Amino acid sequence: MGESGNRRILVTGALGQIGMELLFALQNKFGYENVIASDIREPEELSKLEFRYEKLDVLDAKQMESIIRDNKIDEVYHLAALLSATGEKNPQLCWKINMDGLMNVLELAKKYKFRIFAPSSIAVFGADTGKIARQDSPLNPATMYGITKVAGELMAEYYHSTHGVDIRGLRYPGLISWKVMPGGGTTDYAVEIFHKAVASEVYTCFVRGDTKLPMMYMDDAIKATIQLMDAPSENLSIRGGYNLPSLTFTAKELYDKIKEKIPDFECNFVPDHRQEYADSWPDETEGNLSKAEWGFELDFDLDSMCDVMIQSLRQ
Ligand code: NAD
Ligand code: SER
Repeated sequence: MGESGNRRILVTGALGQIGMELLFALQNKFGYENVIASDIREPEELSKLEFRYEKLDVLDAKQMESIIRDNKIDEVYHLAALLSATGEKNPQLCWKINMDGLMNVLELAKKYKFRIFAPSSIAVFGADTGKIARQDSPLNPATMYGITKVAGELMAEYYHSTHGVDIRGLRYPGLISWKVMPGGGTTDYAVEIFHKAVASEVYTCFVRGDTKLPMMYMDDAIKATIQLMDAPSENLSIRGGYNLPSLTFTAKELYDKIKEKIPDFECNFVPDHRQEYADSWPDETEGNLSKAEWGFELDFDLDSMCDVMIQSLRQ
């Protein structure tokens, strides 16, 4: 713990879409001093003033160990990963970063007894899941990214039951946010479309208009993360990845909703290779267990999410 009694936090992959929002939520909760951001990349000059930063490749276990030991870290939010579309371009690298990186964190947690948050994804599901993914739906993913997420969930359950590691995870849906562009996922179209709409440009969407996926506004995802990490350990029956309730809409329905608010906006649908990954994922997720065990509920619906995205990007 830090001097104030606050938990001391390390975030890996902190310069990405989730990290750049989670960092500030963690700083608000635990104080600037107690939160260290890390990533394989260097932050922009301005960002260096906003948070404590250590350059860290999660494949470098020695460097990870010295940061964790020297800063007496109590909790690691392990966000470093390759996502679905980038992962499919280089599946071996996707396996290496997603699995070896997680293994390094898990082995150090065994030694130093810190807690871990390691996100899973709707990409754990495959074509046999059906339209609604439940907590116990089959996990037969079609992408290497999805395979690493299933294996990561299993590793979490194993390290918890065998070594007592307090690790927690969520199956995030596609996350929609405005601060940082997403990092190479299939659901990125649901973010890109807002940037084009606000810039008065035509958007060419890379999935068909009838593509329906589980989605969530970033503030709800951050809230879920903090709530899960605050939940008493004995309340949790899942370690690998809780399903969350999600929004569900087609790409065309998203376009129509944005067009209600920006009537001149034009969007075409020209599917590319990412259509295949989207087609292998469910339309929506059922998240009863996250509500029952640690009280999670969504704050944003499609309409309020579109309002906040448009207003924030305009500012
Ligand atoms: P992102 O691609 O935006 O960020 C990932 C970060 O990891 C990047 O800043 C990248 O530089 C960093 N990174 C890559 N290789 C690294 C390495 N070897 N060492 C250290 N850092 C490295 O991803 P994100 O959207 O912020 O996702 C974070 C986590 O959440 C991932 O595990 C992802 O699978 C999961 N997730 C995200 C979404 C989503 O919609 N964003 C949905 C489901 C799950
Ligand atoms: N948003 C992520 C992706 O599309 C889902 O995990 O890869």
